[in-house]
Amino acid sequence: MRSWHGQRLDLYEGLIADELADGEVGAFLVWGDPALYDSTLRILDQVAERGAVEFQVEVVPGISSVQVLAARFRIALHGIGAPVHITTGRLLAAEGWPPGAGDVIVMLDGSCAFTTVDPEGVDLYWGAYLGTPDEILVSGPLAQVSDEVQRVRAEARERKGWMFDTYLLRRRVD
Ligand SMILES: C[S@@+](CC[C@H](N)C(=O)[O-])C[C@H]1O[C@@H](n2cnc3c(N)ncnc32)[C@H](O)[C@@H]1O
Repeated sequence: MRSWHGQRLDLYEGLIADELADGEVGAFLVWGDPALYDSTLRILDQVAERGAVEFQVEVVPGISSVQVLAARFRIALHGIGAPVHITTGRLLAAEGWPPGAGDVIVMLDGSCAFTTVDPEGVDLYWGAYLGTPDEILVSGPLAQVSDEVQRVRAEARERKGWMFDTYLLRRRVD
């Protein structure tokens, strides 16, 4: 069976070949910003490598769920001059808290990976359906809000049939 990725590659190539005349411009609408956990640009690179169609790519920056999260909570994503680590729920659960990180953004989390970290001294800033009318925000010490987020998340997922959430885990500094 062809992979989802391979099917998209064929589809994108076909769209450029069949739907655009010479000199015409097309656009791929991407969820959030293509720089974070999105394969559109990677697939377009592969289409270009195959060489069947000739085209140029320009990226119009979007607003990532991570930016909306920070804006909603009116926070910077890291301490002064400090880094921020962006990862997935699967990696956080499998590998634990990234060594040396103080601020960890988690995306693509299907199973509340924040429950796998030691909550001591950690704050959670959690947002679901960010930038939509159904937006949900919960924040506070992880030990206090973990159960609430799991409950709210499960209810919303049940009600809407899907869930997209992004969150920041922040180690408190004294
Ligand atoms: C395939 S990635 C796409 C990320 C997207 N490129 C971005 O810039 O936000 C899907 C993941 O992004 C996050 N996400 C995307 N849209 C979201 C939204 N409106 N609210 C909360 N999280 C969102 C979730 O972590 C979701 O599992």
